[in-house]
Amino acid sequence: MRTLITGGRIVTAVDDYTADLLIDGETVALIGGDLSSMVGEVDRRIDASNKLVLPGGIDPHTHFDLPFGGASSSDDFETGARAAAFGGTTSVIDFAVQYKGQALNEALDAWFAKAEGKAGIDYGFHLIVTDLPDERLPELGAMIDQGVSSFKLFMAYPGVFLVDDGTIFKAMSAAGDRGGLICMHAENGVVIDVLVKRALAEGRTAPKYHALTRPTRAEAEGVHRAIAIAEMAGSPVYIVHLSCYDALREVQAARDLGLPAYAETCPQYLFLDDSLYEGENFDGAKYVMTPPLRDKANQEMLWRGLRMNDLQVISTDHCPFCMKEKELGRDDFSKIPNGGPGVEHRMSLVYDGGVAAGRISLNRFVELTSTSAAKIFGLFPKKGTIAVGSDADIVIFDPHREATISAATHHMRVDYSAYEGRRVRGVVETVLSRGRVVVENGEYHAPAGSGRFIKRGIFAGK
Ligand code: URP
Ligand code: ZN
Ligand code: ZN
Repeated sequence: MRTLITGGRIVTAVDDYTADLLIDGETVALIGGDLSSMVGEVDRRIDASNKLVLPGGIDPHTHFDLPFGGASSSDDFETGARAAAFGGTTSVIDFAVQYKGQALNEALDAWFAKAEGKAGIDYGFHLIVTDLPDERLPELGAMIDQGVSSFKLFMAYPGVFLVDDGTIFKAMSAAGDRGGLICMHAENGVVIDVLVKRALAEGRTAPKYHALTRPTRAEAEGVHRAIAIAEMAGSPVYIVHLSCYDALREVQAARDLGLPAYAETCPQYLFLDDSLYEGENFDGAKYVMTPPLRDKANQEMLWRGLRMNDLQVISTDHCPFCMKEKELGRDDFSKIPNGGPGVEHRMSLVYDGGVAAGRISLNRFVELTSTSAAKIFGLFPKKGTIAVGSDADIVIFDPHREATISAATHHMRVDYSAYEGRRVRGVVETVLSRGRVVVENGEYHAPAGSGRFIKRGIFAGK
């Protein structure tokens, strides 16, 4: 199958030029000024004039089919991958979970079973490690050999996911020695637990107390400790879902010292704020996620962090629950399943609020939504760029068209949108995954199971 994309403005993290692009099979075969006369017969032509031709988005933080807080996230690998594709994301890295007593490969097998036969785009896995006695440490290396080269550890959720500092240190040392990367959920969960119990004892049960019991200092302390432990272990660290300036300052300070500290933020922390917890009719439950939404003043500081490369990635932390699941916490905010939907609108939101609003360049947009994640998580240059030999994961993006985000039209399997009614400039038009057109004219063409597991390389620095 040969596809010729003509006349588009090809934008990568470093380039910006108009050219034709030939895809042969699954990869980019040729890029040049005018290929029409050179390449002979092709199976398909796509006119990309006046459009951007971008590397497929990479979302390194999704939770498809995740059992959490007495419910399961409502998108599985089929519906989640479809929604991602509609939004211009052609690769996700999802989080497999090791439960207490489980071998790491057992945990991974369970997530392979969830994805196989379902995902229509490519996917990799991180592994959430919850139980790591010394005899299991070599299993980290075995995971890295299988292409699962990053691990998430939690400083929050005591009794469920939290691991102690000694375990974090040992995991960082063992993974770091083998080229693995620890992704940290950095919040002081022990203090937060006390605050939560206190609030409930005082009868403060509404969704807004989720945010009020998770102060920015709890996140900043976690980030500081994670980076300090990584420094002692001589390993890099990647902070997930960073939400506020307090925490960002810790990353900035570390990076100014030359430490290999990396961090992502998510659209919800750039566009939504804690006033949403005041909504009527239990509406605040829609935004119960961890870390919580913050005061609006944090948003411009996060944009600055993205511009200055103190934040390298924008992921979504897509972890949707329908309102009937959120209802589990109607009388107790601590029982509301944590997480919200987002995988579908990352590219449009970041283009609109970032590029169209003049906060970041087009190259930086590509870097934040695709290239950096590819480099940090061992996918580059197969993914994360447009170059001869790279996978033909391509998004044709109309920077002039506008759309309105709504649960009535989105493809995520969840009954609300966190961005209901928001107008965005910049719309994903056509999406190719390894040379196959998976989204075109508003229709999805990827058969369930046509996405492939991505065996990732080691962390190579960035
Ligand atoms: O609220 C969130 N973020 N849910 C997903 C789990 C996590 O901590 O990433
Ligand atoms: Zn987390
Ligand atoms: Zn998450």
